Amino acid sequence: MSCANRSPANDPQRRQTLISWLRWGSLLLAGSLAWPLTRFLAFRVMPKPRHVLVPAPLPLSGYHAERDFFLFLTAKGPIAVSRTCTHLGCRVNYLADRKIIECPCHQSRFTPTGQRISGPAKRNLPVYPVETRTDASGKVRDYVVTL
Ligand code: FES
Repeated sequence: MSCANRSPANDPQRRQTLISWLRWGSLLLAGSLAWPLTRFLAFRVMPKPRHVLVPAPLPLSGYHAERDFFLFLTAKGPIAVSRTCTHLGCRVNYLADRKIIECPCHQSRFTPTGQRISGPAKRNLPVYPVETRTDASGKVRDYVVTL
């Protein structure tokens, strides 16, 4: 037997052990990197709620139009309805003469409370919470819509 065959580099058992350690080490390294990477990719920052102040009284038409919502005064109190169509996201319009909300893109129609009437939209319009604030005499001062 020659001296070269006895060197540690040529020892098959030692080579297998090193390969095994490398495999386990690379698996451990991949696992230790995968967890923080997964947490980073899955991390979501929740948007802060936005408060929009609508001064009272509302116009005689009975509703107030903002960029993102309509504010209606109903018998059950104020209701804020989103202006983003649930079909493909177009901005809806309120047709006061017919008392319906209609999407100009594909003519989905909704009630002033956001209930779907017809059209390709399958869901109702979202409704936002409204806080009615009064002054010391009990008169309505303004409405705060939380988006
Ligand atoms: S985007 Fe409103 S009906 Fe299609």
